[in-house]
Parts: sequence; C-alpha cells; structure tokens
Amino acid sequence: MKSNYSFTAKIYDHIFYLALEPIRIAVMNELLKYKEKIILDLCCGTGNQIKLLSKHGFRNLYCLDISDSMLEIAKRSDSSIKIYNEDATKTNFDNASFDVVIISFAIHEKDRNTQQALINEAYRIIKKDGLMLVVDYVFDNKTTKFGRILISIIERIAGREHHRNFKSYIQNEGLFSLIKKDKFKLMRYNRMSSGAVTISIYKKILLF
Ligand SMILES: C[S@@+](CC[C@H](N)C(=O)[O-])C[C@H]1O[C@@H](n2cnc3c(N)ncnc32)[C@H](O)[C@@H]1O
Repeated sequence: MKSNYSFTAKIYDHIFYLALEPIRIAVMNELLKYKEKIILDLCCGTGNQIKLLSKHGFRNLYCLDISDSMLEIAKRSDSSIKIYNEDATKTNFDNASFDVVIISFAIHEKDRNTQQALINEAYRIIKKDGLMLVVDYVFDNKTTKFGRILISIIERIAGREHHRNFKSYIQNEGLFSLIKKDKFKLMRYNRMSSGAVTISIYKKILLF
C-alpha cells in the first residue's frame, strides 16, 4: 500500500495551519492527564500533532505513517519522538503496546475495508482500558453550511479517490458505523470547525 502525499507533504502544515492549530490544541488538552503515558499517532503525517505534545512535556511519543515524504517532515525538529515507516493497518507493534492511539484525519480518506482494518489494528495495539482518540469529519444537523462547503472543497482538491472515499465515509455516517460497540466505548465527543470536525475519545473494551 502506497500513500500519495509526496507533493502535499511540503505544504501541508502551512496551508492547514489556521484550520488545524485549534484542533491540535484541543487534542492536547484532552490528553493532558496522560503526559507520562505511551502515546502513538497512527497515520501521523508531518507529525504536527505529536510535536505539539512533545513541546508541552509529553514523554513517551511514537508516530507512524506510510509516506516517506510526510515522515521526512515529521523527523525534523524533535529527536525524542520515535518514528516508524509502516502500514497502519498491519504494524509490527506488540498487542496492547499503547495507552493512547490518536488517529487524526486519516480514516475518511480510505476505502471501507482499510478504514475497518485501521480501527481493528488500533484496537489490537491499545492496552486494556487504553484510549483511541479520533479526529475526523462529520456532516449532520450540527454542521454549518459553511463547514460543509469548506470541507467538501478541500476534499475535492485532495484527489478523485480521496474524494470518493470521503463522500462514502460521510454517507455511511462516518465513524459511528465503523466502531463496534463491543470493542470501544465512547467516553467524550467534541465538535469543532463549524461543526464539521469531531474529536471522539473511545475506551477499549476487552472482549473477555
Ligand atoms: C490527511 S493525512 C493526516 C495526517 C495527520 N494525522 C494530521 O492530522 O494532519 C493522512 C495520512 O495518512 C497516511 N496514510 C495513509 N494510508 C496509510 C497507511 N496504510 N498506513 C500509514 N499511514 C497511512 C498518509 O500518508 C497521510 O500522512
């Protein structure tokens, strides 16, 4: 599986700075009491979120992505973060390795099977009672018209396959239809960006 972020990597943090900065801060605030815990950013892209955590004293930070170009940016500036170039749907991490796994803006762009595989892999590598924090889109009656239009334009620019997967993600009620109730319990849920982005925090439930 290959990622096509080679061009986007160079401009990603710059063009999305204004939109993403409040979300990065909100994610960090959600995790403040886990500063000493082991945290992985799955599909971390340029590592923008994990670098913010590092800057604010989080200690055990890991990030993983499949794009060399995105990881090249992620490697700049903070050597304490452990960086992995792997497929997030089948990582080499042991079962129950992490207290928290973040998946930020990485589910909507994939086809349905890959979305499910990504969440299943997160489940496998999260510790008992650990958390999965997902940042992604939602379009419903709390999403403003402005939010819908803006996100739809961004997703269209991102390319044909990306846009097709995004549309299908939205039509299938996004994250709600992917999370199995016997695997994860929703703990908290925040809205941002004109109601078009959610930060959802799930706790892992052990099957037996
Ligand atoms: C829209 S970017 C989001 C990046 C980052 N999480 C953020 O919040 O800005 C999606 C990322 O998922 C990565 N990705 C796509 N498929 C992947 C896979 N199978 N395994 C690991 N990373 C993947 C891409 O390379 C890209 O960096």
